[in-house]
Amino acid sequence: MDIESTDSLPRETVLEDLPAPEPLFPEQRLINRRQIWANNRFRMEMENMKTKRYGNRGRHHWYELLLMMKVFGFVLRLTNLYQRGMRNAENIVLREIPLYFPNLPQAFDGFTILHLSDLHMDGMKDLEDKILGVLENRTVDLCVLTGDYRTELHGLHKHIIRSLEYLIGRIHSTHGFIGILGNHDGCHMLNPMEQIGITMLVNSTCLIHKGNERIRIIGTDDVHYYYTDQALHALEHADDTFSIALVHSPELYDIAAIMGVDLYLCGHTHAGQVCLPNGKALFAHLNRGRKYYRGHWSYLEMQGITHAGVGTSGIPVRFNTRGEALIHHLHRQPPCPDM
Ligand SMILES: [Fe+2]
Repeated sequence: MDIESTDSLPRETVLEDLPAPEPLFPEQRLINRRQIWANNRFRMEMENMKTKRYGNRGRHHWYELLLMMKVFGFVLRLTNLYQRGMRNAENIVLREIPLYFPNLPQAFDGFTILHLSDLHMDGMKDLEDKILGVLENRTVDLCVLTGDYRTELHGLHKHIIRSLEYLIGRIHSTHGFIGILGNHDGCHMLNPMEQIGITMLVNSTCLIHKGNERIRIIGTDDVHYYYTDQALHALEHADDTFSIALVHSPELYDIAAIMGVDLYLCGHTHAGQVCLPNGKALFAHLNRGRKYYRGHWSYLEMQGITHAGVGTSGIPVRFNTRGEALIHHLHRQPPCPDM
C-alpha cells in the first residue's frame, strides 16, 4: 500500500514536513493513525463491506443499484430522453451562496469558498474544462472538495489524479485546496492527491489563519459506505473556533450540530440527479438525513449545504437538477440586539 509509515521515515524528515503545530494531535500520532485507518479502509474496500452508523453492515446495496441504473439507462436509450439527459448533465452552473454567522471571526468576513463535489471525473468528457469555463478565472480564498472523484468503486485512479491536477492547477485559491474521500474513492488515492497539492483530511482537522484569527476545517472519511467511530471523534474537535465540517454525505448532520460545527459542507446525493418535474428526487442515496438531500439547510445552530454534484454517477444524465460549482460567501452577521 502506498501509505507512509513513520517507521520508514527519518524523524527529522517527519518534523520538517510538519505544517504549523496543530495542538490537538502531534504529527507522529497523526501518521500512525492514518496507517491504521488505511489498513482498515483497504480491508473494507477489498471485502466490499459497507459499514453504517449503528453497526449496520451489508454487501449488496451497490450491485442492486447498479442493476436498476442499467435497466433505467436501457429504457432511456430507447427514447430521445437519453441524449437530452446528457445535455442537461453537461450544463453546469455556478451558484454563489451568501452565508451569515454571528460567530464568524471578523477577519473572515467576506471569505469565499469554492465547493466542488462528486466530480466523477471519468463519467463526463472534458468535465475539467466545463468547470473552468463557469469559473471564468475567479479567485477564491479556499477550495474544498467533498469526495467522489471517480465513478468506479475499485481499480485504477491515475487518470483521475491527472484530471484533478489539471483542474486544480487552473483554479486560483489563495489558501489552497482541502479534500476528503467519498464512497467511490479508494484509500490508495489519498497520497497521490496530496502529492498534487490537495490537503486531504481523514478524520482530522486543520486550521486556516487570517491575521490573528483562524477557522477550523474538520474532514471525515466517507460515512455512507465506510463509517467508523473515528468520524465522530473528528467532529469532537469543533470547539470555540469557528468550525467547518467536510463530510461526503449529510448523514452526520445531527452529531455535527451537537458537537458545535458551524457549517457542514457535503454532497453525495447529486440532488437526486434524476428528479420529478417538481424537483423531488427518486433516489437520495442516504441512510439518514434524507430531508437534507439538497441545497441550503439548517439544523439546531448549524447551517449545511448539500452540493448537487458537478458530475454524474451511474448513467450520465440529469433531469430536473443541474450540475453545479458553488462559491460560498461567508459573512459575519452581528448578533441581534437584546429586545
Ligand atoms: Fe457518493
